[in-house]
Amino acid sequence: MKKVVFFGAGNIAQALIAGMISSGFNKKDILFVDRNIKNKNIMKKASIKEYSFKKNRSNCLFFLAVKPKDALNAFKEICEEYKKPTIVSLVAGIKSKKYLSISKDIQFIRAMPNTPSEFNKGITAIYNVSGSLATLKKVRALLNRVGITLELDKETKMNDFTGLIGSGPAYFFYLLKIYEKRILKLCNGDTKQRDKILGNLMEGVGIASKNNKGMDELISAVASKKGTTEAGLKSFKSSKILNSFEKGIIAAVNRSKEISNEF
Ligand SMILES: NC(=O)c1ccc[n+]([C@@H]2O[C@H](COP(=O)([O-])OP(=O)(O)OC[C@H]3O[C@@H](n4cnc5c(N)ncnc54)[C@H](OP(=O)(O)O)[C@@H]3O)[C@@H](O)[C@H]2O)c1
Repeated sequence: MKKVVFFGAGNIAQALIAGMISSGFNKKDILFVDRNIKNKNIMKKASIKEYSFKKNRSNCLFFLAVKPKDALNAFKEICEEYKKPTIVSLVAGIKSKKYLSISKDIQFIRAMPNTPSEFNKGITAIYNVSGSLATLKKVRALLNRVGITLELDKETKMNDFTGLIGSGPAYFFYLLKIYEKRILKLCNGDTKQRDKILGNLMEGVGIASKNNKGMDELISAVASKKGTTEAGLKSFKSSKILNSFEKGIIAAVNRSKEISNEF
């Protein structure tokens, strides 16, 4: 099972492919299936070959990377072509029992990556449904190339992970919109400067977060009594910003649960 096929070559597939290639994975061993001309062209430009059920008959590892509405049909397509295929579903929401009701003769794993996989800074949750130990090891190793992995002991935790980490980058980009606006003013509209400043700010926050201190200690290292940070934090607290943020995360988790009931 040398070849990896991305069934769906959109946002998340492109992020994973970029991360895999920059980790040294041979692009000749990556194939894709997609009907969307824009995504086909992006793959062509990246020299990723199109997969054909007729031509490529060797045993491949399929990553199901289509939107939830297309997932069960795409899954069927693979199962119709292969005896006991190996499929890793990246699709949010849809539970394994839905897929297994179509075919049980599969090695099936669910995984939930996020887009920083593109820069090998991904976080992927894995839930093994019916994969062999060898397959699980292979999938884990592949996803560890693009970041870190977390194996879940219950499938329901996929919803929490999706709302928290899968969607996570967008929340931070959203918060950074306020920085973007103000930094652009500071540097007279220079977007290169904006990108450098935002990048360093977030990288600095990222590195500090890894140092085992906990958030309160990190905050107190910045905030001093009666200083500017304290004033900012006081205002955030009085507006109950953390409550609003948590509400947003809960809404995403609930949406993931809803999707699983829609299909
Ligand atoms: N984006 C993320 O950050 C992220 C993170 C974790 C998980 N996921 C999951 O990954 C999945 C894909 O998300 P995405 O944002 O990458 O979607 P996307 O950008 O829409 O990419 C999916 C691609 O698959 C194509 N497609 C769908 N059904 C097909 C079929 N039967 N045959 C050939 N091509 C087909 C679509 O074509 P059309 O455009 O013509 O429909 C589209 O080009 C979703 O289920 C999502 O829950 C996404």
